[in-house]
Amino acid sequence: MASSGIIVFIFPVLCICAVKSVECKAENVGHYGQQSLLECVVKTSSDVTDPNIRMVAWKKLTSPEDEGDLLLGFNRGKLDRPKRGYRFAEPSWNEKNMNVSLLITNTAVADDGDYKCIVITDSGDHNIVTTLKVQARYRIPSVHSTPEKIVPNSESTLICESRGGYPKGTLRWFDEEGTDWTGSSEMETKPSDDGLFQLTSRLSLFRGSTFPIYTCAVFNASGGKEDSITFETNIHDKIKDSDPTKPSPETSKIVAPLVVIGSLIVGLLLLLLYRRRSQRK
Ligand SMILES: *[C@@H]1O[C@H](CO)[C@@H](O)[C@H](O)[C@H]1NC(C)=O
Ligand SMILES: *[C@@H]1O[C@H](CO)[C@@H](O)[C@H](O)[C@H]1NC(C)=O
Repeated sequence: MASSGIIVFIFPVLCICAVKSVECKAENVGHYGQQSLLECVVKTSSDVTDPNIRMVAWKKLTSPEDEGDLLLGFNRGKLDRPKRGYRFAEPSWNEKNMNVSLLITNTAVADDGDYKCIVITDSGDHNIVTTLKVQARYRIPSVHSTPEKIVPNSESTLICESRGGYPKGTLRWFDEEGTDWTGSSEMETKPSDDGLFQLTSRLSLFRGSTFPIYTCAVFNASGGKEDSITFETNIHDKIKDSDPTKPSPETSKIVAPLVVIGSLIVGLLLLLLYRRRSQRK
């Protein structure tokens, strides 16, 4: 029969277009030292009743053009050279399972970046790029000073350090009233062997402008405050008192009675003058 011949001919053509796509979360966030999930699912059109996956390749891209480094592969019914620390997220994944998500068991800074997922099923093939953003929380900062004991009226430096974070964060300085002194500081960012950053900030304290308390706060790459610590300089108001432009409490103790007595004398003089004038008239 001619009609059944046509059906047999058309059917494979339909099947090739049947894989609609591999759908991934565009951006995945992973935490350093923990498991990360790159979530991707193969979507087939509703007319495909029993899809089978023939091949899967998960690759890490170092640049948009490169071939990529194979992390996890599935081909002809078996796993193909999986790299340590990378596996299918579904515990007993097999070719019938359309959830091809990749699980990174111990996320490192080097895992940050773009991944390519290539899927071939018996009804078509597709590939897609998805991104992993690795984050690590900065540790509570620590502050020390040089010299160790801050002497009033001499120059000193506060040094704040926070490590173990990713991506690059910032350290900021505040006094007890919340005034931002970061402009008087200098920050240095150093990557450690594991790719995490160490932040060091030096705040210069000048003669006559030292506050009793400073706060050093660490902010992550998106500007979120992660932690802070306060440091006491053990300089209490001494600096403010020696400021020559401001009257000290001692001078105001003398000045106040003088002002009172002075105005009394002026008042009496004015009274005398007034009396004399009215007597002359
Ligand atoms: C895919 O599998 C992973 C691991 O089991 C699971 O966390 C995720 O929710 C699944 N995704 C979908 C869309 O089913
Ligand atoms: C920064 O901190 C905020 C608030 O804690 C958080 O929501 C965000 O994910 C963090 N971003 C990074 C890059 O660590």
